[in-house]
Amino acid sequence: MNKPIPVIAIDGPSASGKGTVAQRVATHLGFHYLDSGALYRIVALASQQAGIAWSDAEAVAMCAKQLSLRFENEQVWLNDQDVSEAIRSEAMGKGASQVAVHQALRQVLSSVQHDFRQVPGLVADGRDMGTVIFPDAVLKIFLTASTEVRAQRRYQQLLAKQQAADYQAILQDLLERDARDKNRASAPLLMAKDGILLETDHLSIVEAVERVLENYQRFIQFSA
Ligand code: CDP
Repeated sequence: MNKPIPVIAIDGPSASGKGTVAQRVATHLGFHYLDSGALYRIVALASQQAGIAWSDAEAVAMCAKQLSLRFENEQVWLNDQDVSEAIRSEAMGKGASQVAVHQALRQVLSSVQHDFRQVPGLVADGRDMGTVIFPDAVLKIFLTASTEVRAQRRYQQLLAKQQAADYQAILQDLLERDARDKNRASAPLLMAKDGILLETDHLSIVEAVERVLENYQRFIQFSA
């Protein structure tokens, strides 16, 4: 019998570094990469452009169904518009977490995410990769860090991009986003029962990537 295409799920809260870690792990293994948060950000942007309120579950899900999306290397195209930069704004991060509470939208995006599972394998990052979208992932990492460390990282990221940054506002925003992600009824942010906790307050990106790869190697040895 053919073995299923392996998925490494990396979930965790905002600014935990999971995107960078997931991308590097994918590059190292030659796997595909799914940034599931980008999908929610795109829906937030597309809804805004269509004049749809982020709180309108039905209209947001309908808008998502009609999206024409294209992923090319680092770029994301929405209806032939390059939105790679636009979806990265703090406003779209907030919008993403508001549209993400809608079960109808999560249902629409579920199949889009499954389509990323292609040979030789996939590294997927988000909030519910290991719990809901890929429950059969061979490795489920829950990457986290304290709120203060995450706020500090986001603050430094914005400064590096020469964008306005206010540490207190970022901290407040992270707390709100964490609360919304953890407390929603549909696919809340939580560690999978068979997940591995990676606390990164005192771990560099390189070290975090090494830990994930070590765990994957262990899986390969045991499943050989
Ligand atoms: O970059 P950051 O970690 O702040 O956010 P992101 O991963 O781009 O995700 C933006 C928002 O989308 C999150 O705050 C979540 O509310 C939502 N999201 C989700 O609900 N499920 C996912 N699998 C990924 C993101």
